[in-house]
Amino acid sequence: MDPRGKWNDKYKERLNELMVPAPNTRLKNLIPYLKGGTALDLACGLGGNSLFLAQLNYKVDAVDVSDVAVQFLQTLAENRKLSIQPRQCDLTDITALNYRNNSYDMVIITYYLDRTLFPLVKALIKENGYFFMETYYLSTSTENQTVSDQYKLQSGELLNEFKDWNILFYEENQLDGRQTIFCKKV
Ligand SMILES: C[S@@+](CC[C@H](N)C(=O)[O-])C[C@H]1O[C@@H](n2cnc3c(N)ncnc32)[C@H](O)[C@@H]1O
Repeated sequence: MDPRGKWNDKYKERLNELMVPAPNTRLKNLIPYLKGGTALDLACGLGGNSLFLAQLNYKVDAVDVSDVAVQFLQTLAENRKLSIQPRQCDLTDITALNYRNNSYDMVIITYYLDRTLFPLVKALIKENGYFFMETYYLSTSTENQTVSDQYKLQSGELLNEFKDWNILFYEENQLDGRQTIFCKKV
């Protein structure tokens, strides 16, 4: 099944459970850095992180392949009068994105891995802007995790990918098998 159909089915199920989307815990801890501006949430899902950033005075562009997720976020943002612009888009075709370089104060990706997005992310972020990413990595204690290895980072990968940036937070949690980075473009 194509990613749009697969994720639409998952989100339809989740919405039946009336789950309220929550922001990423490590992102929440970074509040002192989050001063508002423009933000882009790539593969936003139901938009827990977008909602969190919008409440902190960010004007958020949110992108996901699932139109179910995008529609859900659109309605929630309208009801709460939050500045979020959700958009259905397949990130494997980034030519369709058409965003301007150096236009975001913050770009965020959580639990979506497509390494071809890194050059785009680097170009879209303004000087002194921030990048936050968290997803699975190949941790020895999570070999039995249901997530396929093709969707996992190497150990230390984000640190190496953003080595020219100012790293403000980096963590590999071996038990949960997650890698998190928060860095600033210099
Ligand atoms: C594990 S979820 C993470 C959602 C959200 N970032 C979060 O942390 O809650 C992965 C997301 O990637 C989206 N996705 C999968 N393939 C995609 C693609 N080709 N283009 C855009 N989004 C995609 C899915 O629809 C889903 O919302």
